[in-house]
Amino acid sequence: MKTLQRTLTIVKPDAVRRNAVGDIIEQFEKKNFRILAMKMLQISKHQAEQFYAVHASRPFFNTLTDFMSSGPIVVLALEKENAIADLRTLMGATNPANAEEGTIRKKWASNIEHNAIHGSDAEDTARFELSFFFAGYELAK
Ligand code: RTP
Ligand code: MG
Repeated sequence: MKTLQRTLTIVKPDAVRRNAVGDIIEQFEKKNFRILAMKMLQISKHQAEQFYAVHASRPFFNTLTDFMSSGPIVVLALEKENAIADLRTLMGATNPANAEEGTIRKKWASNIEHNAIHGSDAEDTARFELSFFFAGYELAK
């Protein structure tokens, strides 16, 4: 059964630097994601470490958090039926070498680290990530 879900996405610093923001947001709208909230900001290394705390023990944690704090990002709260899985499909594989045609990472990612976009991977992480960037009153009704 399909259920209405919310998910958190980030246009990562590499994609912002490549002027991909407009194209990526257009793809969300074309795929029927409803934008509930959106903002551009630059996070600190410490904030990146908190956001990606689940990856703290991974070998790429330091370069990942350096990268995510290296420039402006655009964060969006999105809503649709099956939003979490549908966004992951639209994003494509983590490593763009494995990403399918038509995905955002196929079009915009440079490599496995500089891979253009983040999306929540489950309902519990979506809840944490949405509340990390947005207060309840900032989300469209
Ligand atoms: P994300 O969390 O950013 O949406 O990406 P993901 O679920 O597809 O991948 P995940 O396993 O959660 O990894 C988070 C981010 O860490 C970087 N990464 N680098 N060097 C590496 O082997 C490696 N593996 C992952 C990527 O930026 C990935 O998106
Ligand atoms: Mg992930």
